[in-house]
This record gives sequence, structure tokens and C-alpha cells, in this order.
Amino acid sequence: MKVKVPATTANLGPGFDVLGASLSLYNELEVSFASDPKKAKFVIEGEGKKILPKNESNILWKAMDAVFGLLDLREKYNLKSFNIKLTNNIPLSSGLGSSSAARAAGIIAANQICGNKLTKGEMAQLGVKLEGHPDNIIPAFYGGVCISINRGDDNIEVIKLPIPKMQAVVCTPGFELATERSRNILPAKYERKDVVFNLARISLLTKAFCDGDFKVLKEAMQDKLHQPYRAKLIPVMQDLISSAMENGAYGACLSGSGPSMIAFCNKNKAQNIAKCMAKIWKKETVPTKTFILDFDKTGAITPEN
Ligand code: HSE
Repeated sequence: MKVKVPATTANLGPGFDVLGASLSLYNELEVSFASDPKKAKFVIEGEGKKILPKNESNILWKAMDAVFGLLDLREKYNLKSFNIKLTNNIPLSSGLGSSSAARAAGIIAANQICGNKLTKGEMAQLGVKLEGHPDNIIPAFYGGVCISINRGDDNIEVIKLPIPKMQAVVCTPGFELATERSRNILPAKYERKDVVFNLARISLLTKAFCDGDFKVLKEAMQDKLHQPYRAKLIPVMQDLISSAMENGAYGACLSGSGPSMIAFCNKNKAQNIAKCMAKIWKKETVPTKTFILDFDKTGAITPEN
């Protein structure tokens, strides 16, 4: 079977741990039954090919195993039951949901192996439990722009906003930033004025997406809950946002927990914005990858099954 899972961008500025969107950059998983456990193969191509573990500690396998555990099928299946091939296009630890994509792919594949016993909601709930926060992994399952409302015990109500008619320019510097490090830098408590600042912007942002009114994104993507603290880890963050805006972006922000930055714009501005953002990192002698992406509409799919 095959599973194709999109990259995601979480937070969208003020929507910390709540808002996220899926993007047209995909990882692909192929799983088949191994006829002989001794010959079972675990192959990784693309991003992380040389460094990701190809054993039980791989998060894709852990997600598959979590499904088998949930359905009481651990006796029946282990890593050696399968040939696994993962083709990664999403850069690792880059703020583009590579871990979410691996977990979602594993959950969907294992559920299919077990006869699709889990609903999409149940798979997403398991994904959130493994991932820790919903905004990154929910769009990988549902596609588009998602509001994730945690009703307790990782039972997530998902509200989908209209797909914006914009492109996403992603600028990914050539270093990884672990989500844990990028979360540990955040304060445990916030001042009321900063919380109110974000409440106003997330309301404005939601309205902007509903109305397709992107002129307000400059204001609506501002944030005081995570970006100012994370700027210590990504010193050119503000320069990247300013450059994107000066070159015609509607809005720009940190993608997930970084270090990628993302700008939203009309198609005709995208190439130039990508070039200008890359130039800023180049001055710091940091290499970059840039991606010009669309919003993914469907979330993970299982083609040709
Ligand atoms: N909302 C999360 C964060 C996204 O910003 O830490 C990363 O998983």
C-alpha cells in the first residue's frame, strides 16, 4: 500500500498550537508484507536518508506499532512483518511537519493493514497523542487550513477554513531546530496584554481566511506568544519578514517552531520573494532551500490502493 502525506505549517503567526495548514510538498510511504522476516527491508530515500534510524526507534514504525497496540494486534505484527520504503521530501526538524508526516503515514498504513478499523478522527487523535500538539499533524490528515480545538484527551474538533488563493514561499535554512528546543525557550507565563494581542490577531486572521481578504495579513500574522522568543534562535527572523513584505507578500511568519520562514503572496511575486529571503541567509553564510508551494487540499491520501 502507499500513503502520501503533505508537509504542514503550524501556528500561521498568532495561532500558536491551534492553527495550521497543509502544503503541496509530500512524503511517500510504501508498505508491503515481507514473505520472509529475515529479508524484511526498511529503506529511507531523500531527506534523512543517512541519519534516520531504520529500526524500532523510527517514529514512523512507532506510529504503526501504536495502531497495532490500540487494536490489540501486537502479537500479530512486528517490524519484520513488513517491507517499508519511505521517500522523504520534507526537510527534517525544519518547521514543516516532517515528524507529523511520518506519524500520520505510519498510522494510516497500519490502520489499513488492520482493515481500516479506526476512523479518521480516531487516527488523528492518536496522531495528536504521539505528536503532542495538534496544529502540526491535524492538517496532515485533513488538508487545507485547520483550526484544532482540543476538547480534552486529545479529542480534537477540526474546523476547516476556505483554501486561500495564495501561494506559500518557504525559506528553510541549512540547519535543523528541534521542536523541543524551540518550545523550551518559551516562557511558562504570559502578560495579559500579550495574550490579548494574539486573541485579536487570531480573530482577524480567521476572518481574513473566511473572507479571502488577504490585505489584513500583515497585521493578522503578528504574534507575541512565540516568535519574539524564538527570534533568539533565528536572529534574522524580522529581516526575513520585512523583506517578504517589502517584496509584496501579504503576510509572513515563522513556520511551526522553525527554523523555516513562510510568506504568503500572489503567484507572480513568489519567485522574487523566495530569492530575497534566501539572500538574507546568504549574508549570514547560511545556505537555504526555498519552496514555492500551494495549499494542499486533501491531506494524506492512499493512492492506488
Ligand atoms: N505549535 C507548535 C510549536 C508547532 O510552535 O511549537 C510545532 O509542532
